[in-house]
Order: sequence, then structure tokens, then C-alpha cells
Amino acid sequence: MKALITAGGHATRLRPITWNRNKHLIPMANKTMLAYAIDKIVDAGITDIAVNINPGESEIQKEIGDGSKHNCQITYIEQQGGAKGLAHIVKNAKDHGFLDGTPFLMYLGDNILLADLSAMVKRFKNDEMNCLLALSKVPDPERFGVPEIIDGKIVRVEEKPSAPKSDYAITGIYLYDGHALDAVENMKLSDRGEYEITDIHQHYIDNNLNIGYEEITGWWKDTGKPEDLLIGNQFILDEIKTGDVGVHGDAKVAQSANIQGKVAIGKGTVIADGVLIRGPVTIGENCVIHNAYIGPYTSIGSSCEIYETEIEHSIIFDDVTIKCGKRIADSIIGKGATVVAASESKPSGHKLIIGDNSLVEL
Ligand code: DAU
Repeated sequence: MKALITAGGHATRLRPITWNRNKHLIPMANKTMLAYAIDKIVDAGITDIAVNINPGESEIQKEIGDGSKHNCQITYIEQQGGAKGLAHIVKNAKDHGFLDGTPFLMYLGDNILLADLSAMVKRFKNDEMNCLLALSKVPDPERFGVPEIIDGKIVRVEEKPSAPKSDYAITGIYLYDGHALDAVENMKLSDRGEYEITDIHQHYIDNNLNIGYEEITGWWKDTGKPEDLLIGNQFILDEIKTGDVGVHGDAKVAQSANIQGKVAIGKGTVIADGVLIRGPVTIGENCVIHNAYIGPYTSIGSSCEIYETEIEHSIIFDDVTIKCGKRIADSIIGKGATVVAASESKPSGHKLIIGDNSLVEL
């Protein structure tokens, strides 16, 4: 079995974070969304994985490499002509030759799930199914692909319907046999101008193929707004594994520092005097934290320096310096950013150098 992960598109609603970073490389609890997807697939026993990328992409390859870090083999496939929809990704991977009729798991790289996929993969194989979709109950199905289910069978699927026929979302996890490759021949663009994945699902239904579903719990999908990333970060930090918690390698924690709850501290990091950390929190490698409070649901990247500041429910990327004597909450601070007290330089007042589409609340 093979796997195909989506990691293209432009994520315009996540700007400014996605101006210079592919959204699939955004860290959640110090691990990229894409790395979570890869690990889930490998845990389900699939190691031949392709990642769909935008033409000209290079950051993903730099970050993820050939897959050896994740015990798998990764092929990168550029989506020819750009982001034309999820069914186009399948057609493109077929034209590339990676998809050759072998059954495959398609995994939308911006979906995060806690569930183990092994049982789903096993059922697909053992029951010789043609297609198996992961569903999840949601309060707002109109934002997703939605199945109509009668007597336990999917009889129709619709993409972002205004009047959903069930309260299930079709999540971004699909198992297909070779029929998916027939479905992407002679595709038509939808009204919103994309080749829709729901048309592949509908192909299985229209041809009386064996299409089933599995309800999964513990699923998170970003809705494309920055605050949703904070919820995703919270979702993952809630599940932080006992094995990841603690002080790693040569990290140092001063005797006077107070660490409460589940906290992971990376190698080379120094937690100095006057620090209170209340988990769940992850802190990367080679950081210095001094005289600060780090509150629940905060992830701090690597090589950050934080002094005289309180931070809570926030994502701090790598190489960030914060020394501002203030309380920071519900914030996303991009790589290499500096946040310091205005009183340290003249004239007084808020001095801002802010990229396009940034949001600042003073
Ligand atoms: O997450 C579940 C939903 O994903 C399903 O319920 C919908 O049926 C399905 O169409 C999809 O809807 P979205 O509107 O959320 O898809 P989005 O455009 O956000 O793209 C999903 C992933 O695919 C994301 O990793 C970006 C990537 N992508 C997207 C497009 C359109 C590509 O790599 N290339 C593309 O052409």
C-alpha cells in the first residue's frame, strides 16, 4: 500500500504566517503538521509515501528530507499547473507514475488526528474494500465534504453543501483502490473552480463499488484562521505523551524554577531563576528563559530567549526574543521576531515593524 499526502495550496487566510512558510510546516507543540501526518501513516504500516507540493517548493524538502528521519521513503511530486483541487492531485500523481493502481491512503496534510489508522487500513485490506472514508461528527458540516447515509451506507456525497444531509464531515483521510485512477479521467471543474475529491468518492458510489466509512474521534482541521492554529496547538498539547515530557539531554533547570504539569524541555535549554512554567507546554532546544511565566497551551520553538515576560496559550516559532515586561496571550509569533519593551529606547510609544496582513492588539 502507498500513501499520498497533500502539502500544496496557498493558505492565504493564514497570512502573514504563510507569506514565507508553507502552512504544513507550521509547528504544533514543536512538530510540523506534515511530520504528524507522516508519522501517522508510518504507524499504520505504510512507508512508500508521496508528498504533493506546489511547483518550486523547496522548504518542505529541506525540512522533511528523504523520509529516513521518519522511517519511510518520500517522493515529492510537484502539482503541475498549481493548486487545482484535491482530485487534481490524484491525477497528477497518476501522471507522475507514483500512483499505479496500487491501493493508497490519501491524507490531507492540514488534518491532525489523534486516532491510530492501523485498524482502518486493516479493515480496508481484510474486507477487500474499494474505498473507505474517515468521518467525524462536526457542528458545521457545511464547511466540509458531507455524506448522505441511509441504512449504514453512503449513498451520496456533497462538497460544502448549504443544506448538509448529515452532521458528518468527510475528514481528510481516504483509502482508495485503483478505481480512484479511473475517476480522475474526464473530471470536470466544480462551480468553485476546483477538481473536487468528492467527485472521486461519488465515482465509487455511482459504480456500485464497495465504499464504507469509519467514524473517527480526535480529529482537528484548521479552518484557515490564525486563531484556529492556537486551538490546534491546544488539541495536541492536551495529548502530549508522557515519554516526551521532562527535561531532555543537557537542558538545565535552576533549583528555584517551578515547573508544574506536563512540560517538555529540549536539549541545551536553560530554565533560569524566577521562572514558573505551568503545562501543558513544550519548549524547544537551546532556549534561555529567565524571570518569566510560561502558562498552559504554549509552545516555544528552539533558540528562543524569553525574559521578564508572561506568555500563555501561544505559539512561538524558532529564534524569537521576548523581553517586554508584559503579559502575552493568544499570540502567534513568527520565526526570528523580537518583542521588547518600548521604554528601552527613545522616543516612547509603540514602535512596530509589522509584515503585510499582520494583526496586533495593543
Ligand atoms: O479537511 C477535510 C476537507 O478537506 C473535506 O471535508 C473536503 O471534502 C475536502 O474538499 C477538503 O476541503 P478543504 O476546502 O478544507 O480543502 P483545502 O483546500 O483546505 O485543501 C486541503 C489540503 O490539500 C491542504 O493540505 C492543502 C492541500 N491542497 C489543496 C488544493 C486545493 C493541495 O495540495 N493542492 C490543491 O490543489
